[in-house]
Amino acid sequence: MTSNPTKKKNKKSFNIDAPLHVSGKTQYLDDMPELAGTLFAKACYAKVAHGYIKDIDTTAALALPGVVKIISHFDIPGENEIGGIIQDEPLLAEVEVHFIGMPILIVLAKDEITAHKAVDLIQVDIQEKEIITDPIVAFEKNELLSQPLHFQSGNTADAFEKCKYVYEGKAESGGQEHVYLEPQGAYAIPNGDGSLKIYSSTQGPTAVQRTVAKVLGVSMNQVEVDVNRIGGGFGGKEDQASAWASIVAVGSYLTKKPVKYILERGEDLQMTGKRHPYKNTYKIGLDAEYKIQAFEADFYQNGGAATDLSPAVLQRTLFHATNSYFVPNVNTHAYSCRTNLPPNTAFRGFGGPQGMFVMETAIHHAARALGVSPTVIQEKNLLFEGAEFCYGQIAKECEAQNTWKEAARKYDLARMQKEVDDYNLKNSYSKKGLAIMPICFGISFTNTQMNNARALVHVYQDGSVGISTGAVEMGQGVSSKMIQVAALCFGIDTEQVKLETTNTTRVANTSPTAASATADLNGKALQDACDQIQKRFYELARQTWSLSEDAAIQLTQNSIVAGDNKMSWNEIVSLAFQKRINLSAKGHYSTPIIHFDTKTSKGHPFAYHVYGTAITTCTVDCIRGNYEFDAVKIVHDFGSSMNRAVDLGQIEGGLAQGIGWMTMEELIYNEKGQLKSGNLANYKIPDIYSVPKEVEIHYLDTKGADLAILKSKAVGEPPLMYGIGAYFSIFNAILAFNPKAKLPYEAPMTVEKVLMGLYQ
Ligand code: MTE
Ligand code: HPA
Ligand code: MOS
Repeated sequence: MTSNPTKKKNKKSFNIDAPLHVSGKTQYLDDMPELAGTLFAKACYAKVAHGYIKDIDTTAALALPGVVKIISHFDIPGENEIGGIIQDEPLLAEVEVHFIGMPILIVLAKDEITAHKAVDLIQVDIQEKEIITDPIVAFEKNELLSQPLHFQSGNTADAFEKCKYVYEGKAESGGQEHVYLEPQGAYAIPNGDGSLKIYSSTQGPTAVQRTVAKVLGVSMNQVEVDVNRIGGGFGGKEDQASAWASIVAVGSYLTKKPVKYILERGEDLQMTGKRHPYKNTYKIGLDAEYKIQAFEADFYQNGGAATDLSPAVLQRTLFHATNSYFVPNVNTHAYSCRTNLPPNTAFRGFGGPQGMFVMETAIHHAARALGVSPTVIQEKNLLFEGAEFCYGQIAKECEAQNTWKEAARKYDLARMQKEVDDYNLKNSYSKKGLAIMPICFGISFTNTQMNNARALVHVYQDGSVGISTGAVEMGQGVSSKMIQVAALCFGIDTEQVKLETTNTTRVANTSPTAASATADLNGKALQDACDQIQKRFYELARQTWSLSEDAAIQLTQNSIVAGDNKMSWNEIVSLAFQKRINLSAKGHYSTPIIHFDTKTSKGHPFAYHVYGTAITTCTVDCIRGNYEFDAVKIVHDFGSSMNRAVDLGQIEGGLAQGIGWMTMEELIYNEKGQLKSGNLANYKIPDIYSVPKEVEIHYLDTKGADLAILKSKAVGEPPLMYGIGAYFSIFNAILAFNPKAKLPYEAPMTVEKVLMGLYQ
């Protein structure tokens, strides 16, 4: 820990959206006023998970007053293809359907209710085929979506020979529904010349633009995508917003009318992909001092019926398979398996959590067998400065041990553990559990090429500033951070900066808002643009005041200052305008240093890592199997947080979402591939009653990485993984009741599983 050299006035806590949110004025896609003549689209989707389309009858639907058109794949002007990484996903089914929820036809109607009724009147006759829902079955049938992946360091075979203790086992983690508050949707408006403007609820405006252009058979410059903000994405709109945008685009292109489609919650739950469920095997070897010497694991990812982002997610699983531990010998394999479920996709953590869960399981397994607390093994193996990850990157400014030590000290871990132990001695049918979850998460898109961004800045002649970047606001606070960056560069108040919508015409070729890297990438591009204008102002001041080349000039407190010379911000802007100086600039940034060789699986893929440690305690009702989280106490490595309010919200939200994934959110598909937990009554997400009774977050103010914007480290995804501690805290409470519990390592730890564990 060091003092904070970059702490400035603009490193403050504010959220530009808060006043709008709390007064209900925030505009989402469905709040936009509709243009006259707008048509409403709705998909008729497969009710069978795999089969041949034998016959389709739309007669009754077409006869319904208000139905304008029914679109099939035959009507698509360009390619019937929306696959992001691999071209294996048709927009509309052609001969076969591959999952329940796969769109077959699109109804266009004058209102939403009519569209809904018409979809119900369409008869689709499908000859059912055998389905696969289990990734291991898919693997055995060689149904793989992409090439297997393999990471290796050292030699595990030799290392296992020398290990005193070796344990093998299985671990499984379930999927997770995003439950963004705003469902998927898009609104297309034709410009009259064949080009279109599309408002989309997407994390990836450029992905939408590229996909729509392909589906329409037009070039990208004919498609403008605009995003004001989205009501949550959590990865679910990184790649999967393109389908709905393509549907309204095709509808609009064919009818020359505005076309809108906002999914109903039920449709969204059925049709869209989720976090990948994983089945895994592991083998861990420890020496006499409990140092982990070797780790092997095989990961079987349930990819669903099309590739989507699965290979990238799978790769991040391998990057995080040793979590925040140093393991000298690693050998991991990973398989993306094709099943008849909706294509699974990005979800906060992007495969990382699934990898970390297996490592934590292996440690827990070893600890049980050795009769020690898992924390003993965890602590002994934490990463250290200079340690090499199995993919070749060296841990720098490594805070793994510091966050652990600080958590143990600040929250008095020994006392916490004693309280749990004392409670368990005194209570027979109520038990407490404690678990520690250290995290280490790599920041950068694992696909190096994606780590770049652009920004556009206008200083208007009245001194106000308009900024555009490729960042999409989805509740994570990136808008506030962008405004702070510009205000800081110009030395002006944040109130003077207006953030424009994210628009492909103003800022092109954007990477999606993802990988927690949005503020870093777009913020640095924005700094580049602001710096250019700043330089022009400095030059003008130099001339005006006849200063030397090396005179110190500063933009600060709404002024430009050089020694005794001073002009207000408005004066320098006005002077620059009179002198015909360019008041606009576009900026660009691409992350330096990073590289990765996919052939050898070695390199330096991440700009930096984010670390943290969470201590979770829970109480289990050993008669009913219910549980409550008493407390989660976190020490998190923020670098030097540029906006503590926003960052705090990210930790709290990520933690709750992680706890949900690990404990209560259970996706159940029946043998026909039908999602049974397809509504929010039987798919339970954390609410105010199920979040921990106490959440304490301590900021470990660290030097902060240079590659983080204003040294403020990325914060979007890492805290989700603190939720893994919730799973093991319950497991430990169960063991306090039934030390011989035959509980398999399968998440989520639902109340039913707890009961089984208590009494088996
Ligand atoms: N926070 C809110 N409120 N809503 C979201 O949709 N998405 C998460 C995270 N935090 C999300 C969120 C995910 S998956 C990512 S990758 C990051 O935000 C993306 O934003 P960032 O790069 O600005 O952190
Ligand atoms: N994270 C999130 N999204 C991504 C990534 C990643 O590492 N790579 C490609 N899309
Ligand atoms: Mo986040 S899963 O990278 O959108």
